[in-house]
Amino acid sequence: MREDDAFFHEARRRGLRSRAALKLEAINARDRLFRNARVVVDLGAAPGGWSQVARSALPSDARVVALDILEMEPLPGVEFIRGDFRQADVLERLEASVTRRAVDLVMSDMAPNLSGMKVNDQARWRELADSAAGFALGTLEHDGAFLVKLFQGEETESYLRVLRERFASVVVRKPAASRKQSSEIYALARGPRNAGGAVDNRASLPYSTLGATNAATE
Ligand SMILES: C[S@@+](CC[C@H](N)C(=O)[O-])C[C@H]1O[C@@H](n2cnc3c(N)ncnc32)[C@H](O)[C@@H]1O
Repeated sequence: MREDDAFFHEARRRGLRSRAALKLEAINARDRLFRNARVVVDLGAAPGGWSQVARSALPSDARVVALDILEMEPLPGVEFIRGDFRQADVLERLEASVTRRAVDLVMSDMAPNLSGMKVNDQARWRELADSAAGFALGTLEHDGAFLVKLFQGEETESYLRVLRERFASVVVRKPAASRKQSSEIYALARGPRNAGGAVDNRASLPYSTLGATNAATE
């Protein structure tokens, strides 16, 4: 049995909705993402594997707010918003459901439909990852954490640089359940530096603006 299949079968045997759930479990085992968390936002949540992991790791009175452009089968204890995260009205609905500066963890497993054309694909994941970072910077509390999926390529270093400028610490993870041949990696950033900043998921948020010392958001 291939290693990949083993993860797939493990996820299915345990009633997890995705093999991606095992990636989050592995990151959590190492980085204790859910410790003391009360509000968790799951971007790109469908079919719901990450939300399942979050829900089972959190106390029953903690909240999990999940969002996806696709429909997701309801999960007990998970609030779901359906919509494209890049759209202003969708962001407004999400913002309305959480209190500013009171989100403990924003996690984004959002992935664009990859075309196979490197330049386009890099621009697409970058757009989603920038949007997620803007949202995290605007909503996380001061010691909150932001976990985001990236695809290795020409945009990776510049995106990590932006995260390092805007968060107190940044580490990169490649959990075993992530296929070795996949360019996917995860960045975990803690401690947003722009406490009090604006929520901004504009896909067009220029990297230089996002990276500039607080100019855009304070
Ligand atoms: C890899 S899957 C997420 C798997 C999920 N973490 C799980 O464990 O079940 C990526 C998800 O990102 C979503 N997505 C991609 N672009 C999006 C966008 N602009 N807004 C919201 N969701 C998006 C896709 O619909 C897809 O469900």
